[in-house]
Amino acid sequence: GEMVAGIITRQTVEKALYHNMGKEKLADYMNTEVSKVSKDAPYETIKQIVIGKKQKVVPVVDDAGLMVGIIGRSDVMHAMYGDMMKSQAATPIVERKTARPVARDLSEVMKERLPKEMRELLANTADTATECGYAAYAVGGFVRDLIMRRSNSDVDVVIEGDGIDFAHRFVKKYGGRVRPHKKFATAIIALGNHRKMDIATARTEYYTEPAALPIVEMSSIKNDLFRRDFTVNTLAIKLNGKNKNHLIDFFGGQQDMKDEVLRVMHSLSFVEDPTRLFRAIRFEQRFHMSIASQTEKLMKLAISNRLVDRISGSRLFGELRLIFNEDQPTRAMWRMEHYGLWRFVYPSLAYGESLHLLCEQAEEAIAWHRITFDTKNLSVWMVYLLCLCTTLTEPEAEAVMARLGFMKGSIAKFLHTRKAAMETAERIAKAPPTGPLEIFDAFHTLDDEGLIVVMAASKGLETKKIIAEYMVKIRFIRPKISGGDLIKAGIASGPILGKVVNAVMRETIKGILTTKEEEMHFAKTYYTKLTGSEPITPPSA
Ligand code: CTP
Repeated sequence: GEMVAGIITRQTVEKALYHNMGKEKLADYMNTEVSKVSKDAPYETIKQIVIGKKQKVVPVVDDAGLMVGIIGRSDVMHAMYGDMMKSQAATPIVERKTARPVARDLSEVMKERLPKEMRELLANTADTATECGYAAYAVGGFVRDLIMRRSNSDVDVVIEGDGIDFAHRFVKKYGGRVRPHKKFATAIIALGNHRKMDIATARTEYYTEPAALPIVEMSSIKNDLFRRDFTVNTLAIKLNGKNKNHLIDFFGGQQDMKDEVLRVMHSLSFVEDPTRLFRAIRFEQRFHMSIASQTEKLMKLAISNRLVDRISGSRLFGELRLIFNEDQPTRAMWRMEHYGLWRFVYPSLAYGESLHLLCEQAEEAIAWHRITFDTKNLSVWMVYLLCLCTTLTEPEAEAVMARLGFMKGSIAKFLHTRKAAMETAERIAKAPPTGPLEIFDAFHTLDDEGLIVVMAASKGLETKKIIAEYMVKIRFIRPKISGGDLIKAGIASGPILGKVVNAVMRETIKGILTTKEEEMHFAKTYYTKLTGSEPITPPSA
């Protein structure tokens, strides 16, 4: 009727047409969180909505809620700047004033919270950009985490200018290697020590006409930030020139951070990039934020429209892997079930109570592994995928891996580990191994990922302890003598030698042989038992 239901911008409609969404319902994509005013609303209220909330048009409604008029941004600008607005040329001055809302100087915060090398890196970035005549900004997660007092060693930089040119000049001066990506005008600078800096060129995508391909061109930081996923990820720090080290907040990212709200920038965010569905859940859980109600509606819509089906295998796997690598991934995994996202990995994959329990146990076992071995070699994603696939048949597990873009060889290896882990878990549940050799025999064919799954799946604490004992101690037991020692003692290399080495190994694990002499004596006796003759020490020895 004549009630205000929502607002949709021309840009959104054009983008929607580009994505072939001409038949979609407007109601699903319009902004429903609209501020309205009454006919007698004071100017300050309207200004607050237009400037503060950045809502470009404000519907005017009567007491019954019927729309009786509309006030646009330019009306407010006229009221604010009067005559200046009369000439076209004056508009950019106002634009610039509002387009660069310098929030606060972060110099002190940066000095206090960033490690020295990071401050140096940012200073070098600033110097290079200034030399090139470009403006450089630190953006995205780095800025978000700085403000939230979380450490983040990856810095993303956006250059107003030519990002690839910047990267080459930076490396020439400070070392490192550049990997340019011409199509997107981006570059990665490898800095050594496994550190890297992502460089992007501020860019904007626009449509010359509905359903035309987007034109990508160099742009300002504001347009670049507008393309991003959530308001909390749109904060930037200007690194050089005027307002150096100032925080720039065009889209209310700071407020949303304070309110702990995760909000998309526009209603087509998930259409443009459905991987953001997974990112939303990951950030929601990591930062204990709540997803804004309209953002959640858009998520549900994207899910019911099966947009996840459009994500390639490797990108889908990439998103899952990021979730698995979180400190407490099971919370996000549970949320994925809430939104019905697992079924896009495999239709009958359901993350129910028992699977959640298994994954929680895996989470604990992984934490134990991290502390105990202090290594990054464990494929955490593999552990969780193995857990998830325990509820599926082998062909189903194969389909999961194929959906995630794995090649045949990797799938075969995965299925092998899955089978071995499941069989081991079942076997030890019936009869837990006792004694070092039985323990060794139960687990020695499994790699760490498989062992963690078995640990997670085993019910009693005792069984978990047995697996831990195998992983920290038993699997590292080695005899003091080597194959070379045995050859010197007259046992020729070949299958017999292999059998003797193995027998020595097993007796050592049992704890029966402790000294080198005992091992050698046992080896010789065992050899004689096998061959009927004593080893003959070669003359050269
Ligand atoms: N980004 C986006 N849409 C995506 C992926 C990334 O808009 N699908 C933008 C966001 O602004 C994000 C930035 O690119 O902040 C960098 O992406 P990434 O490094 O993946 O994320 P971070 O925000 O740094 O998060 P994390 O802490 O998980 O690395």
